[in-house]
Amino acid sequence: MVEQKAMIIGEETVRKYLTAEDVIECVEKTWKWYGEGKVIMPNKITTDMSEAGVPGWFNSMPAYIAPMDVAGLKVVGGYDGNKALGLPYIKANVVITDSRTGILRALISGDYINDMRTGAQPAIMTKLLAASTDIITIIGTGLMAYYSLLCMSKVVPMKEVRLCDISEQAQDAFIARFPDAPWKFVKCKTNEEGCRGADVIITVTNANANLVEEPWLKKGSLVMTMGSFRETSFDVVRKADKIAVDQVGQSLHRGNVKELAEMGEITADSFDIRIPEVLAGMMPARTDPEDRIYAQIIGTGMLDVAVGGLLLEKLAASGEQVTLVDMTK
Ligand SMILES: NC(=O)c1ccc[n+]([C@@H]2O[C@H](COP(=O)([O-])OP(=O)(O)OC[C@H]3O[C@@H](n4cnc5c(N)ncnc54)[C@H](O)[C@@H]3O)[C@@H](O)[C@H]2O)c1
Repeated sequence: MVEQKAMIIGEETVRKYLTAEDVIECVEKTWKWYGEGKVIMPNKITTDMSEAGVPGWFNSMPAYIAPMDVAGLKVVGGYDGNKALGLPYIKANVVITDSRTGILRALISGDYINDMRTGAQPAIMTKLLAASTDIITIIGTGLMAYYSLLCMSKVVPMKEVRLCDISEQAQDAFIARFPDAPWKFVKCKTNEEGCRGADVIITVTNANANLVEEPWLKKGSLVMTMGSFRETSFDVVRKADKIAVDQVGQSLHRGNVKELAEMGEITADSFDIRIPEVLAGMMPARTDPEDRIYAQIIGTGMLDVAVGGLLLEKLAASGEQVTLVDMTK
């Protein structure tokens, strides 16, 4: 009789075993494997809860990572009412199943995994695509922005970090999370003030608006959008010298370029730089220091499944016992 025991792993345990460095390395490797064709990952599916009167949505994001032999699914949603309950906007869980039998191996609280892997993405992309990293602008200073800057601080040098948010309280809380920051923080009154002269601009809000305008962007700049809806004017994408992406399929259906894709202005062929293929050595990243590069970071389930698999490896090596549930009972 095959044993069918599943681990239930909570947030504290996850945080104990995974450092920012672990997650950055795992994200980079997983992107590379995806570029090499070693990951199976259907596009994510969104369930729009607003149709049921709940202000929110959740995504089902399955993946199989062959080099780790890890199969699983991330279930992640954004819920507008969470803040009032003291919960983060984004809530995630990761399910890992045995790749040969489908037996549940682990059910993992996915918040930290989601947050850190989300932050790892702009850090790796900045390393590959930025012409300079002296001045970084962050529009939307919430939780994903915190993890983004944390991961960036592990990977690239920065002199000035400009913050833009509709909430000054959010800007102040963000600054308080980096008490020993070696860079200068600047709170901006307008997005234009934040963007003019910036080397790297990251939008990571839950807005659906033109937060960045094309005339504000200097030569050689890198704009990365991470929010689930529109965050720049169409011209930021249209007039970019190069368009980069973490994954093509999903980028046509969600995020900043969705509407341009619906109008037929962006197609699968529009993405000049596909990060997984860059890491696999199949195409160059930035080739001209004067290029204005626009990058969409749509976020993919393979990253959470891979980080979940890494956590299981680390737990097994530690010998720590976690809650086991016999799934036959
Ligand atoms: N790309 C990915 O891999 C990925 C992963 C997880 C979450 N996300 C997305 O990232 C976004 C942010 O998530 P979060 O968990 O940080 O949310 P959050 O609520 O913690 O932070 C969002 C911040 O954006 C600010 N904001 C809202 N509208 C704004 C506007 N018009 N201008 C400036 N700032 C504005 C809010 O005040 C808040 O501080 C969401 O869209 C989420 O779906 C992306």
